[in-house]
Amino acid sequence: MSIRLNVNGKSMDVQAEADTPLLWVIRDDIGLTGTKFGCGAALCGACTVHLDGVPVRSCQTPLSAAAGKEVTTIESVASTAVGRKIQAAWIAHDVPQCGYCQSGQIMSAVALLKDKPQPTDSDIDQAMSGNLCRCGTYPRIRAAIHTAAGTKGA
Ligand code: FES
Ligand code: FES
Repeated sequence: MSIRLNVNGKSMDVQAEADTPLLWVIRDDIGLTGTKFGCGAALCGACTVHLDGVPVRSCQTPLSAAAGKEVTTIESVASTAVGRKIQAAWIAHDVPQCGYCQSGQIMSAVALLKDKPQPTDSDIDQAMSGNLCRCGTYPRIRAAIHTAAGTKGA
């Protein structure tokens, strides 16, 4: 079937079954490969994108759930002021190690700052708890979020 999507501000029609995971469509049909496949079971956060600004695990989000909503992926993170602040802080803190989890981490961090511009350590831990990093970059992630927010951690 044909489903109309809005991805990073562009409207497009994709041909796929309604229950196809959104991640498959983003990567294989649309060709935006910044969003990563990790576990495929909503456990790691590597596939995090925004649906109407809310972070979701695209590996477990059916295509039909994205119809009529704004899908935002890492490729357009710099299109908002908050996204640019997070990106700059990530660079300043040299956050990534292997990098595999980082697009998902950044998408969760952007959603957090849009929701809570002055997050506490506990807000950060709660918002980021679904994004796993096998390289253990958590302390740098927390520091970068504080830098982007202009706050200080404990
Ligand atoms: S790939 Fe989606 S949560 Fe791990
Ligand atoms: S930077 Fe390697 S998994 Fe997070």
